[in-house]
Amino acid sequence: MLGSLVMAHPLQPSVGHPGSRILSVASYRPRTEVGNEAIAALIDSSDEWIRRRCGIESRRRAAPDEDLVMMATAAASKALAGAGVDPYDVSAVLVATMSHRGPAATVGPLVADALGATQAAAMDLGAACAGFPYALATADALVRGGSARYVVLVGAERMTDIIDERDRGTAFLFGDGAGAVVIGPSPTCDIGPVVWGADGSGSELLRYDEAGFLRMAGPEVFRWATSIVPDLARRALDAAGISAADLAAFIPHQANLRIISATAKALELGPHVRVATDITTNGNTGAASIPQAMAALPDTTGPALLVGFGAGLSYGAQVVMMP
Ligand code: UT7
Repeated sequence: MLGSLVMAHPLQPSVGHPGSRILSVASYRPRTEVGNEAIAALIDSSDEWIRRRCGIESRRRAAPDEDLVMMATAAASKALAGAGVDPYDVSAVLVATMSHRGPAATVGPLVADALGATQAAAMDLGAACAGFPYALATADALVRGGSARYVVLVGAERMTDIIDERDRGTAFLFGDGAGAVVIGPSPTCDIGPVVWGADGSGSELLRYDEAGFLRMAGPEVFRWATSIVPDLARRALDAAGISAADLAAFIPHQANLRIISATAKALELGPHVRVATDITTNGNTGAASIPQAMAALPDTTGPALLVGFGAGLSYGAQVVMMP
């Protein structure tokens, strides 16, 4: 009864910003480079087969001292330095990952602590290889809505911890590493609208087995990806109000060079569009692949189309202005 007598009044809203933008990007690549021969020997494969079927020549593997938090922190602190943002001024740290296996329930707070981001909220975001576009959409909404000013977003994977080195379907494909961006307020919209979705009916195609190893129905995932990615990419371009001809770069999740090439062809990208092919020397680094591939395209200015897809099944895409 008392409630109905109290005058309802609106709560004070957060004060946001017209837009947000990526201020900087950085990558951490583990020290150890592993070529195809060493992996092929364990799975009855060959350097030639691996290059032909997915375009990978080598990938990085984390040493014992290169754990997930260390790699994420290294990429994030480089990104903060590049943006000229003091860790104390960071409002939120988001870590997109699918390979965290440490004793801590979440790695975000550990990364924030290691960065010295003592005022920041921190959390993990689990959307597998779509993790970066998902987390970017979240960071953009936090800044525009006024819940955060500077957000550190890290994609970090230590796939070595979840890959069975004798699994013929995954052992050659995945690599370790971290990529990070710093997002801050902008008077213009420099992170375009996200187009995203999920289809849990396909979750069996990429799953963990009883031992915690990632198992993948490769050909089925390949067919799913090539069937959805071009349309997803076109919808993200439409949502941003630009066409493929306006792009400076195309930076899809580095899942397989054949998927990247097929999508670039389907989108009829002109020769002026830089297509990220970081997979050749970095492998598939899950949620880290898009920011790492972005960092590997220095001196690129203008709009870039990002597309992530993978376990879940989850997918997401948006156009961003390159930092
Ligand atoms: O990041 C998350 C999303 N993930 C992806 O998007 C990955 C999508 N899938 C793929 O990229 C590909 O399916 C792989 C690269 C994983 C595998 O390539 P594929 O062309 O789909 O191989 P497949 O499993 O269809 O096998 C083709 C042939 C078979 O031989 P036959 O039957 O044609 O004689 C396999 O037995 O290649 C054989 N094969 C291999 N040969 C050497 C399968 N795995 C291997 C191997 N080495 N590791």
